[in-house]
Amino acid sequence: MKRRQGISPSNINGMFRCSTVIRTITFTITLAVLAVVTYSCVDRSESKPRMTENNTRKYAPIVEELLAKMTLEEKAGQLNFYVGDLFNTGPTVRTSESDKFDEKIKNGTMTGLFNVHGAEYTARLQKIAVEESRLGIPLVFGADVIHGFKTVFPIPLGTAASWDMALIEEAERVAARESTAAGITFNFAPMVDIARDSRWGRMAEGAGEDPYLGSEVAKARVRGFQGDDLTDEATMAACVKHFAAYGAAEGGRDYNTVDMSERLLRQTYLVPYKAAVEAGAATVMTSFNELNGEPVTGSKWLIDDILRNEWGFEGMVVSDWQSITEMVAHGNVADNAEAAAMALKAGVDMDMMGDAYLDHIPDMVRNGKIDEAYLDQAVRNVLQLKYDLGLFDDPYKYSKEAREKEEIRSEEHLAVAREAARKSIVLLKNEDKVLPLTGNEKTIAVIGPLADNQSDMNGTWSFFGEAQHPVTFLQGIKERAGEGTNVIFAKGCNLYDNKTDGFAEALQAARKADVVILAVGESAVMNGEAGSRANIGLPGIQQQLVNKVMEAGKPTVAMVMSGRGMAISELHEQVPAIMAVWALGSEAGHGAADVLFGDYNPAGKLPVTFPRHVGQAPIYYNYKHTGRPYEGDYSEPLSERVYKSKYRDVENSPLYAFGHGLSYTTFEYSPVTLSDDVMEGDNTLTASVEVTNTGDHDGEEVIQLYIRDLVGSVTRPVKELKAFRKEMIKKGETKTFTFEISEEDLAFYRHDMSWGAEPGEFKVFIGSASDNVQEASFSLKKSEI
Ligand code: BGC
Repeated sequence: MKRRQGISPSNINGMFRCSTVIRTITFTITLAVLAVVTYSCVDRSESKPRMTENNTRKYAPIVEELLAKMTLEEKAGQLNFYVGDLFNTGPTVRTSESDKFDEKIKNGTMTGLFNVHGAEYTARLQKIAVEESRLGIPLVFGADVIHGFKTVFPIPLGTAASWDMALIEEAERVAARESTAAGITFNFAPMVDIARDSRWGRMAEGAGEDPYLGSEVAKARVRGFQGDDLTDEATMAACVKHFAAYGAAEGGRDYNTVDMSERLLRQTYLVPYKAAVEAGAATVMTSFNELNGEPVTGSKWLIDDILRNEWGFEGMVVSDWQSITEMVAHGNVADNAEAAAMALKAGVDMDMMGDAYLDHIPDMVRNGKIDEAYLDQAVRNVLQLKYDLGLFDDPYKYSKEAREKEEIRSEEHLAVAREAARKSIVLLKNEDKVLPLTGNEKTIAVIGPLADNQSDMNGTWSFFGEAQHPVTFLQGIKERAGEGTNVIFAKGCNLYDNKTDGFAEALQAARKADVVILAVGESAVMNGEAGSRANIGLPGIQQQLVNKVMEAGKPTVAMVMSGRGMAISELHEQVPAIMAVWALGSEAGHGAADVLFGDYNPAGKLPVTFPRHVGQAPIYYNYKHTGRPYEGDYSEPLSERVYKSKYRDVENSPLYAFGHGLSYTTFEYSPVTLSDDVMEGDNTLTASVEVTNTGDHDGEEVIQLYIRDLVGSVTRPVKELKAFRKEMIKKGETKTFTFEISEEDLAFYRHDMSWGAEPGEFKVFIGSASDNVQEASFSLKKSEI
């Protein structure tokens, strides 16, 4: 294995041109220097894992007792994790041979299964492990419960748009209640990868582009899954993924290379993982990508140094699907054996779908190629997870059929899903107050390939939610409109072909209607894993369908489904009212109808920028100013903007900015008042704003606070979100919002990579969106930095 570069004697000797005596002396000194250099360069972790020395964690006595009894094969077996036979979420082709789970459980070569479910099924497999394997170690059952189990919530990007942490926590609690009842105790969520490039399909699974919002969401999700007590039968271990920087794939292409400065990594990309770890997440999953030339799954720096030693993470680390053996394809190791050794030494405890630990580690230990201490440490972490989940006390506690029947899709859970659906919707545009509908419309035309489409309502990563369950938009609208309204439907076109033969019927329906509701956008598989797209506008011929329907000249609302920021400039030009509806899950139709008819006043705000054009990607609100900034709209003479940082053909500004989202009411913000214009010593400042509901509906508003450091030893972004609050403001009411700002809010990784704030001028912005704010200024005074 190629690791660190040492200093070779020839290099050092070559530096000297002197007499024999001097050469002899030099040679002696050289040897001494070499000894020191070699000592400090040698990878001393060869003999002992550093984490074993530093780990202060107390393991349960049963963990040590079992470890003492285990053979090398049994130890490696405890690290070996397989997908079940219900869903395949990766490239593995199942054979009858690989599916012989019962055998693997009996002979202790499998620690558990993932993406299986069902109280009866998991209890049956658990019984084999407990009663028929030599040591009776219980299995752990994992799954991707990404946005609900059988009760499906909006995709994570959708619930992030609610900016409602209590709601997110509650939704994840429901997800945990349902999935634990079906035997699942280890959830591969939350996905907290920062995503600034909408071409990347997995943006759908995270909380968008911002590290602060992303951290708040990450913490809420961890609290929701894990509760206060992991041994509780209704809580499960969270798994923070995909560590690290997976969302920065070049070109937005899934699994692609990531190359970035350590500063950007720490300042932006690592922030939500750290927040989730601090919130107590029990496990972490490594990512597929390489980072700066090193595949993350083999990165001792990321896993051992940063995650475990710097952040103090004491839980279990699992690889992503075959990400250990994929290092061979990355090209930093020659074969699976080298990959296994590298990952184990980096600190990856569990091997998902690679079989690399099982196939290679026992022999490598026997041959002295790897210290058994690494293996033991990984086994400890896995067994301790099982212990923390209470599986040694009662291996069947999560597989209870009675609880399963009671919990799954209970009325109470569906009510939370409806609340989540309506709160995730973002009203992007509402000209001429097309929305809310009056309820007196005689005819409503509901048009589009997603209007009455159950199978796509659940969105990406929702294989537990059955396709027959979700309420479609058409169903929801019909139900709410009631008997007196004629709701007509025309599909218009398909999602995957270019047939225009439905256009005429769609136009006819629009002509008959008082109002037209278009449901367009992405299907469930057009985002999510392996769902990157180079064109991020409306897929297929949907834009042509919109053009056709607009010929009717009727008030029109477009509901855009997506798992990313969409480039929908053309739609924006044509359609007076537009809502981002992501994929809303089980209660999609009800949640959408609540908003359309004004039973719920929308308050969602974008967690991700919507570009004007895909060519702007990556685009995000917290960009750097540059030396030649351009913030205009092309109205000045060309000569004034020609050498500015811009495109010739598309404005720099986004179509809809981060934090944007309208309401049926209007909110007026007062100027920002600061408690002082100087921050000094340990003092904090407060920034206040009065927000008045000046419209004619009660409504919730998300008040957002951003900060800019005008001059830094390292250039700083034009704006960074530091706080927000979501609150109901009744019509006519004025509320005062006060935020505390401390020096920590001004800190960043400085030139020498130390963390701290620098004296100087700062701007504080408060408003309803990143591009709609009031501002004030203050300065930070410090005697030393
Ligand atoms: C994904 C993970 C997921 C795992 C198991 C992988 O392909 O990247 O997010 O948890 O499969 O389904």
